[in-house]
Amino acid sequence: MSRKPIIAGNWKMNLLQSDAKALFDGISSFVSNYTATQLPTVIIAPVFTSLNQVHAIPCDCGCGGNKLSIAGQNCHWEKSGAYTGEVSVEMLKDAGCSYVIIGHSERRQYFSETDEMINKKAKAILANGLIPIICCGETLEQRESGVTDTWLASQIRAALKDISSEDVAKSVIAYEPIWAIGTGKSCDAQEANRTIKMIRKTVADVAGQSAADSIRILYGGSVKPATIEEQMSMSDIDGALIGGASLKADSFNEIIEKTMKVAAV
Ligand code: 13P
Repeated sequence: MSRKPIIAGNWKMNLLQSDAKALFDGISSFVSNYTATQLPTVIIAPVFTSLNQVHAIPCDCGCGGNKLSIAGQNCHWEKSGAYTGEVSVEMLKDAGCSYVIIGHSERRQYFSETDEMINKKAKAILANGLIPIICCGETLEQRESGVTDTWLASQIRAALKDISSEDVAKSVIAYEPIWAIGTGKSCDAQEANRTIKMIRKTVADVAGQSAADSIRILYGGSVKPATIEEQMSMSDIDGALIGGASLKADSFNEIIEKTMKVAAV
């Protein structure tokens, strides 16, 4: 089963508009050297106030793909209304997004997002024709007490509840162990692969084997140019969701370049 790799940069709450524009320029000039078929699916997720500084880059070779796509970092499930401070999927689409990151551990932890909210967001994203990047991950305490697999399976089951197999197939999951985020300590690649295989098995239980074979599952947590080749050589790791190393064009571009090398092998 060949799944197109994804390299996604989550810029989190960083970069003013001018910095976002400079980073976008650095990435877009790199991806312009390739066709969308040669590249992984490259995604950047700036803060909402910088969405006007970036744009998707359609491929010019006639393949119909994008060299670069844009993601929102969060959304609300309602279309519009009295939800001060929130942004709807339709608004993100209007601003050029085709993906939305949901359920990031930072949102679960600091903004009390629940599995139920994440499920509502996933449904709203898919209903608008965008693709959710659904994050899951365990704490160090959970890992050490041996509950990682049951915890992740319950996050995935809840996020995908009542979503059709077709929609699950086109969705993206990001496995981000919380203890590996921003710590410089990546999860061992073999262990990340084992965990992602378990997540894929959960997807098969919920949505069938065909959806599980199609869904792309990323690893996130201290991904760097030095770690990506080993991570991408694993059977079930379909790409990476990158925080810190996505904030510099040099390191992000190097990660894209190394992903192309591994994928070409
Ligand atoms: P780091 O790559 O900075 O560890 O962040 C990972 C992450 O949370 C991406 O969403």
